[in-house]
Amino acid sequence: MATAFHHFMETMKNVILLHCIIQPESSGGESEVTDGLSVCDRLKEMDEDCYKTLSSVPVRWIDRGHDGGYNFHNVYVSPVICEDSCGNVKRINFSEHHRDSKFPVSIDRVHIWYDAIEKFVKIAYNEKIISTFKMKPGDILTFDNHRVLHGRKGYQGSRLLIGGYLDWDLIKSRTRVLQSQLSNTNIN
Ligand SMILES: [Fe+2]
Repeated sequence: MATAFHHFMETMKNVILLHCIIQPESSGGESEVTDGLSVCDRLKEMDEDCYKTLSSVPVRWIDRGHDGGYNFHNVYVSPVICEDSCGNVKRINFSEHHRDSKFPVSIDRVHIWYDAIEKFVKIAYNEKIISTFKMKPGDILTFDNHRVLHGRKGYQGSRLLIGGYLDWDLIKSRTRVLQSQLSNTNIN
């Protein structure tokens, strides 16, 4: 279960689109999505100290690889839960395979952080929050990548999803243009 870091770190795109091209016919490959904002709310309700830990302890996220003929090596340091100046959750960073083995905090805070993330993940997989379904070839799944965590179940055989990203700025701009065209009035 993760938010999609991929090549974006500081500028992680808001909206992700996942286009299912190939899906194994046997069981497996089901998508799992869970509302990270609900996870944060429940964690805060259950154990405010854990919430504070995840919204304050910096974690080092790392993404290295090769794509489209170039090498990349992104590093981003940020807590799992990022709040705005009013204390509202504005972005969730979570991807176990992008978490660096270097943890830039003192050892006493490391143990506290692991306890907190265990609770966070348990809530994320709570059957009342998580949604599990199998995409069919041709389906496109889209969601707010700053808010929703996603993952998949194991599978055998071939599976291919192609991802794309959009900014809210672009989506909202396009929505206004279309509204304006359809209503034939100017919308600011
Ligand atoms: Fe992903």
